[in-house]
Amino acid sequence: MTRGGDGWGEGYVTDIAYLPGYYPNQSPLHLHLACLLGGVAGIEITPETPLSYLELGCGHGFGALVLAASNPAWRVTGIDFNPAHIAAARDLAAEAGIANATFIEADLASLAGDPLVGDIPQADVATMHGLWSWVADPVRDGIVALLDRKVRPGGVVQMSYNALPGWQGAIGMQRLLRESGQRLAAQSDRQAEAGAELVRELAKANAAHLRDSGFVQSLVEHLGKSNSAYLAHEYMTAAWRPCFHADVVAALARAKLNWVASAQLVENFTPLMLGDEARKVLDRFDDPVMRELIKDMCVNRPLRQDVFIRGARRLSSADRDAALGEVMLALLCPPDKFAWELEAPSGRANLDRSFFGPIAEALAEGPRRVRDLLELPGLARRDNPGEVVGMLVGTQQAMRVLAPGCEPGPRVRRLNAAAARRFVRSDNLNNSMALATSGTGAPLSCPMLDLFVASQLQAGPAADTGAWADALGADHPEAERQRLREFIALLVAERAPIWRRLGALPAASGGPRPGEPVL
Ligand SMILES: C[S@@+](CC[C@H](N)C(=O)[O-])C[C@H]1O[C@@H](n2cnc3c(N)ncnc32)[C@H](O)[C@@H]1O
Repeated sequence: MTRGGDGWGEGYVTDIAYLPGYYPNQSPLHLHLACLLGGVAGIEITPETPLSYLELGCGHGFGALVLAASNPAWRVTGIDFNPAHIAAARDLAAEAGIANATFIEADLASLAGDPLVGDIPQADVATMHGLWSWVADPVRDGIVALLDRKVRPGGVVQMSYNALPGWQGAIGMQRLLRESGQRLAAQSDRQAEAGAELVRELAKANAAHLRDSGFVQSLVEHLGKSNSAYLAHEYMTAAWRPCFHADVVAALARAKLNWVASAQLVENFTPLMLGDEARKVLDRFDDPVMRELIKDMCVNRPLRQDVFIRGARRLSSADRDAALGEVMLALLCPPDKFAWELEAPSGRANLDRSFFGPIAEALAEGPRRVRDLLELPGLARRDNPGEVVGMLVGTQQAMRVLAPGCEPGPRVRRLNAAAARRFVRSDNLNNSMALATSGTGAPLSCPMLDLFVASQLQAGPAADTGAWADALGADHPEAERQRLREFIALLVAERAPIWRRLGALPAASGGPRPGEPVL
């Protein structure tokens, strides 16, 4: 029996590299919104702020690098114990010429007590995506000790993790997958595939545990579509266990961190989370831990995206609204594709057209501050900047920017081209990636396919969408290639104008600058 690793990972998968990815909920600009919605002052960020950003368990470092490329004044540090990840991150940084990102190979279990820790700057913002619920107690203790030493007073911490009770019904599925996979003498990706195969087989055989919960069914379905490296990191780790929010809060309190809000902005609007009866129960409690436990019981969310702060400075409603009014938003969809309905845990909700219609129209012309949007003629209400930010950003139809986009600088162009060259494959076109941008401070979150199309537009002035689809889908049947052609043409028509407006692509036609690599 093998452990699916090289023996130094304390049960974490180390023989297979993870996937590159970008998660907008880790962006400091976005986390500031979560803090304001949670009623506390976050980190004020201007284009000149020399923000210090720390990512723990950074994998390939792609997320850290797009943030660094989009924010030349920031100092970005990524830490991971897998040397393959750190080497890949450093290579990509060197190729793109990004000097404000540093990648450190270190084990989080012991880093806080290591002399190396002195080289890490005090963090304004520290983030972890997909780490906490996958690592053993000594690593969790090490993370808390590191946050205690390295997050500055007033600093913000974001952490996503598999949550209880949401995951409770699927623990057996994970155990079956891992237990059977690790009996195969093979690398952990092959082990995960074998384990997933057994889970699917047993699900078809009507196993009650795999049949009776909608959540388990959705996971089983997802297994069949997932990349094997993802499956290995997700399921083959010995220490994996989902956590109650209350336990995470207690652990982070040792680093003087207080829970503030969810980075999933819509989750901060209780009427969208709970029905009337459940809200009556919730309203009996003012303790945030009890309130979150009640929400988790009602909503059963399997992944939590918690935001903490080291030293909460509570804002009055007036100060909170004034700070939200200063937020600049950029529209991320063509106005005619704006979605007026959202699926919320408490049911389907509508965005009021008489209110959001003029706002979406104004944003279609370019980024605007929330306070200016609330002064648009004809709005029935003008007193709710939190709703504007929460609904527009929470539905991913807008994002916060520091300023309108400008012509992409060489680092941005090089990173976008290099990332496309390294990562795009015909079987990973839906992976969560991003385009680095100039001027806005905010990378543009997008699927891998967008990264490919944007890099092609950047490389040459003529858009030959058919040829791009044929090159990308060479191994696919003609019907799929035709779908890809149509989809790429749609991206060029609908998304490229947004990429140009928000500093990811030159405003006019592309084409490499002298001395710049092309794809
Ligand atoms: C599931 S991956 C997530 C990577 C990245 N944050 C993302 O979401 O794409 C977890 C990462 O944590 C790293 N990791 C696990 N245990 C660690 C430890 N003890 N010290 C440092 N890094 C660790 C792994 O190498 C891996 O890159």
